[in-house]
Amino acid sequence: MRIAIANDHAAVELKKEIVDYVRGLGHEVINYGTDSHESCHYPEYGEKVARAVAAKDADCGILICGTGVGISIAANKVKGVRAAVCSEPVTARLAKEHNNANIIAFGARIVGPETAREIVKAYLTAEFLGGRHERRVDMIAEIEACN
Ligand code: RB5
Repeated sequence: MRIAIANDHAAVELKKEIVDYVRGLGHEVINYGTDSHESCHYPEYGEKVARAVAAKDADCGILICGTGVGISIAANKVKGVRAAVCSEPVTARLAKEHNNANIIAFGARIVGPETAREIVKAYLTAEFLGGRHERRVDMIAEIEACN
């Protein structure tokens, strides 16, 4: 898969580890994140990955900030994006299986590198289950269409 990744200044080191890990799993990575520790603004990075995913320049995205919260809120403002904050792998798997999340987010100040790798692996190996979940995901799109 082609995977868009971005981060703010709080997550530079974890981002590097995750880029290496995802490449090691055989995926292509597009790094939209900062590689500087200088303070920056997480909405810009959430938007970059969200727009890449919405435009289908990437199959899915990974966002990392201090908590995963701000960057996912920003990403979710882009039409067609379903970004899920995950602090452990079960939520990451279910975010794909039930919600067809096209972006996962987590926090470099919340999870360590090993848990982050487990989250990423659980998400990337999961499949959307469709069926009753499809209708619910469609309902999310209907809410979005009313904006
Ligand atoms: C940056 O200090 C921090 O606010 C940001 O990384 C993130 O945690 C926001 O949700």
